[in-house]
Amino acid sequence: MSESNGTLSIGEASIELPRLEATVGQPALDISRLRADSGHITFDPGFANTAGTRSAMTYIDGASGELRHRGYAIEDLAVHCNFLEVAYLLMYGKLPNQAELAVWEHDISTHTMLNEEMRSFFDAFPRRAHPMAVLSSATNAISTFYDVYRRPTRSIEIDAGARTLIAKLPTIAAWAYKKSIGEPYIYPDNRLSYVENFLHMMFARPVEDVVIDPAVVKALNVLLILHADHGQNCSTATVRSVGSSRANMFTSVAAGMGALWGPLHGGANQSVIEMLQEIHDDPDATIQSTIARAKDPDDDFRLMGFGHRVYSNYDPRARILSSFAEDILDRMSTTDPLLEIARELEAAALADDYFASRKLYPNVDFYSGTIFRALGFPLRMFTVLFAIGRSPGWIGNWMEMNTDPETKIIRPRQLYVGEPARDFVPLENR
Ligand code: CMC
Repeated sequence: MSESNGTLSIGEASIELPRLEATVGQPALDISRLRADSGHITFDPGFANTAGTRSAMTYIDGASGELRHRGYAIEDLAVHCNFLEVAYLLMYGKLPNQAELAVWEHDISTHTMLNEEMRSFFDAFPRRAHPMAVLSSATNAISTFYDVYRRPTRSIEIDAGARTLIAKLPTIAAWAYKKSIGEPYIYPDNRLSYVENFLHMMFARPVEDVVIDPAVVKALNVLLILHADHGQNCSTATVRSVGSSRANMFTSVAAGMGALWGPLHGGANQSVIEMLQEIHDDPDATIQSTIARAKDPDDDFRLMGFGHRVYSNYDPRARILSSFAEDILDRMSTTDPLLEIARELEAAALADDYFASRKLYPNVDFYSGTIFRALGFPLRMFTVLFAIGRSPGWIGNWMEMNTDPETKIIRPRQLYVGEPARDFVPLENR
């Protein structure tokens, strides 16, 4: 037996669990033979201790608060790259050189239009529909227009699908927004960069163009980069779960969007602002009463934008966003009372033993909303912005899974706690 392997004793039996090395970070114990060899399964709610896959995309050191994509620190990528460069890095494993980036940006800019029949699809939703529901439905619907993306097998088709999806998401997102405010849909303008084009489709009107501020373009690039990937989070695990049945990329990503929408995941960016707004508007909701509610075991309220499954330290994305929020407000020559409340709330939580002892710190969603607000985005679009940012992570994971010989359909076991076998009771005797 290798001394680096693990050994599990169950009664008299001793089972060797091979140790699998990571390039950096925690090694794993391979339990894939455990059930066959011991008749036991493992119990791990939320898969908090379980790696379901190998991945070479993103490394997180939760204890020290480090995040790297393909080995590069998030701090460097956020400062030096645009969003499409980081998307290429995540999906293809290397930073593009100038020629590769030019081709990549050109390819994406020429796939931004939606099939015209999609207009009636958007028209069919009620005005009040949440744009996350529209985004997810429309992402799924795109595959119905392109036969080749329904079940792509060759890598050239998969690449084309990935490009198409990245290209069309801003158009879908902007049209979902336009639908919600009753304004005409704005078509993409392929002379613009990815982020400029999105801003154009969001904020231009047929009667007046929009002046795109380069500071807003830069800021939105940074925000999208900070959301681009984050290991096997709930939505990415969903994309992999759906994709493991060999469902197509569009359907898998649409399912991931559903997972992202929840307030414990990407929906937290909307919930944070709602929480801060309540403190601002409601005299009974103070910083201290909000902290007290979050600590109360009988109240299911949580301090939104705080805590993380992987980080037991400050989320590095929140660290970047915390100082970035101030810069953006300065550049926009504006102030936001909600940012002041967020700062006070953070200070109060970090000084409180409940949060300190559980190592709960601000996460990416705590400050992102104040920046989205400053850039002019409406609250209901915040999680949609997260989704556009996360798209390279979802697609990259789908692609990685698709070429991984270890991929198996995701099908966890359960610990059955229901009735044992019992005699059937005919209807008339019940
Ligand atoms: N407010 C109050 N208590 C909290 C919070 C919070 N935000 N987060 C965790 N706790 C407590 C929790 O009650 C538990 O306490 P106890 O040990 O007494 O039972 C302890 O801390 C551990 O929490 P957990 O629920 O076991 O941790 P988890 O890893 O399952 O949950 C989380 C992670 C992100 C869902 C959770 O921290 C949370 O609900 N945060 C608020 C929602 C949020 O901001 N979500 C965004 C996550 S980051 C970006 C993203 O993924 O989208």
